[in-house]
Amino acid sequence: MSSILISGKEIGQAIRSELSIRIDRLKNRGITPGLAVILVGENSASKTYVANKQKTCEALGMHSRLLSFESELTERELIQAIHSLNNDPEIHGILVQLPLPNHITETEVLAAISPAKDVDGFHPINIGKMMLGQDTFLPCTPFGVMKLLEHSHIEISGKHAVVIGRSHIVGKPMGQLLLQKDATVTYAHSKTANLKEITLQADILVVAVGRTKMITSDYVKTGAVVIDVGMNRDENNRLCGDVDFDSVKEKAAYLTPVPGGVGPMTITMLMVNTVKSAENELL
Ligand code: GUN
Repeated sequence: MSSILISGKEIGQAIRSELSIRIDRLKNRGITPGLAVILVGENSASKTYVANKQKTCEALGMHSRLLSFESELTERELIQAIHSLNNDPEIHGILVQLPLPNHITETEVLAAISPAKDVDGFHPINIGKMMLGQDTFLPCTPFGVMKLLEHSHIEISGKHAVVIGRSHIVGKPMGQLLLQKDATVTYAHSKTANLKEITLQADILVVAVGRTKMITSDYVKTGAVVIDVGMNRDENNRLCGDVDFDSVKEKAAYLTPVPGGVGPMTITMLMVNTVKSAENELL
């Protein structure tokens, strides 16, 4: 058996095509959706992510603005920059690229973003709304994973979903979104005992741990859906995920590749959230 590959590249492209119609409609009404991305310091992975976000904005005819600061920037200066974007009518979405330098408190910074422009879905108010199942900006990576499952017609209700990883960005919200679609959700993490016993029960296995090829086929139930959120470099410096693709593809029914799986969906959902924020102006 060989898995059906879930292509985030193709599904993301389809979602962006539909989105461009919404962007045209907004432009006809005098609104160009605008995203501001804040980058602090010299993290090279962050620079690549930010460049990709800008490129995608431009390809869709959206307005993008990069605010790039030296790592010595103070927390106060950063929060001031955010306040000014909160009041800027050209900007509908604000994203602070993480991680931030150690002297800056992430929670303070994220809470300074207006919840109405928090297209990352990291503001405590938006996290609360997500937990309550209310309409809000959903965190882009878990939101993108839900879209991958939906577009692949994978049933979630009644399935056992195991999420490995409990980060604020991916793992925690991922479990919540699956729960809202009536999955039975188990969270596993670095302190989980007998990980393999748990993952072998998963109908849907989402892996977001950041460890190269950690999940081999012996962690996977035959016929499972395996979603690989990892983005690592292997010994040959090639991009790879947290899942050992070559072994797992013989066992899983569905599998996301890296690259070309979850990655393109994260950026796509950021664009979706930014357009949604711009459309809120018309309400
Ligand atoms: N760093 C890694 N992933 C993300 C993300 O989804 N949003 C932000 N703001 N920073 C990140």
